[in-house]
Amino acid sequence: MIKNYLLSDQWKYAGVKKIEDIKIEHLMPCLECHLPQTKFATDDVAVEIAKAAVNGDLNTLSKLSINCLVCHHDKAIIHQWVDGPPEDNVIYGNKSGKHEGVSYYSMIKKSPVLQESIFCGQCHGLGPGFHYPNPVHCAMLYGSYLNAYIPSGGTKTCQDCHMEKGHFMSAYSDSDMAKKAVRVDVETLAYYFHPKAFEWTPLAVVTVRMTCNAGHRIPDG
Ligand code: HEC
Ligand code: HEC
Ligand code: HEC
Ligand code: HEC
Repeated sequence: MIKNYLLSDQWKYAGVKKIEDIKIEHLMPCLECHLPQTKFATDDVAVEIAKAAVNGDLNTLSKLSINCLVCHHDKAIIHQWVDGPPEDNVIYGNKSGKHEGVSYYSMIKKSPVLQESIFCGQCHGLGPGFHYPNPVHCAMLYGSYLNAYIPSGGTKTCQDCHMEKGHFMSAYSDSDMAKKAVRVDVETLAYYFHPKAFEWTPLAVVTVRMTCNAGHRIPDG
């Protein structure tokens, strides 16, 4: 992404001529979902991440991922005018209590959204991020869930289907999940076509019905 766009002539108004010009604001349109904690970092970190990406430094890149606090703090409250912003020192889970054995984040409070599909919808997107000067779009599954699955009578949440095995978030790379994804019904009829005397052409009618059992269209992203 960085190699092809930010450092090319294609995004000529981005203000980036060389890798050192890259700032956090240039990375957020992707990292808002892929590494949301970047919003708290300084521009030096943006340059470091960009260098690792351009140089294909997988060792550094593999250390960057969505961590516990992204889900159990920053994204755990959506309607902040109703529920207030996430509080310092608090981890958000399914119930409230003391967070034993730690000196910081020593309280647990119930998140109003952790078990709801909208929680996952924050990153499994609806469409292009129009709030950026140069919108991009990537994941759009939540749109399909809301507008296709739910209106056709779907009742499960993302968590019901994807967290049966916990935080592994099983999808196509889990064979049990992949098997559930599509139901395929095949009907066949074989016959001979007899256009003229002494000529028989073997033919078949094959009817294939594929039904998507995922809570959204597949594939995505
Ligand atoms: C709205 C949140 C969101 C934004 C913004 C976003 N992504 Fe994604 N991206 C995801 C999610 C969620 C997935 C994985 C799930 C899927 O495929 O539906 C994904 C998948 C990917 C994958 C495939 C990863 C794999 O393991 O196969 C790549 C590569 C990727 N994104 C790159 C980008 C780049 C580059 C940008 C910015 C131009 C970007 N994304 C912006 C949420 C986002
Ligand atoms: C992608 C978001 C995400 C990330 C990252 C994540 N969690 Fe969770 N976690 C959830 C969700 C959603 C639930 C609730 C699942 C449910 O109840 O159906 C949950 C539930 C839990 C629970 C049970 C909470 C309770 O009150 O019952 C614990 C403990 C937990 N997570 C610990 C962790 C730890 C430790 C990490 C980091 C190693 C982590 N989680 C990372 C989304 C996440
Ligand atoms: C902070 C943003 C964020 C949140 C919140 C989030 N995801 Fe994701 N999720 C991602 C990104 C980014 C990827 C792609 C990771 C990659 O391949 O590099 C992903 C990947 C996935 C995958 C694909 C895993 C695979 O095998 O490739 C599944 C399934 C998934 N998420 C389900 C969920 C569910 C269910 C929730 C809610 C409980 C959730 N996610 C919440 C950002 C998020
Ligand atoms: C009824 C069960 C069900 C529900 C509800 C559901 N999913 Fe899925 N999802 C699946 C199945 C099954 C697959 C595996 C598809 C495959 O093998 O390609 C899948 C695949 C995925 C993938 C991988 C995308 C890809 O390209 O295959 C992601 C990411 C994902 N789901 C996220 C979500 C999120 C986020 C929600 C809620 C908004 C959600 N799912 C709701 C069953 C469900």
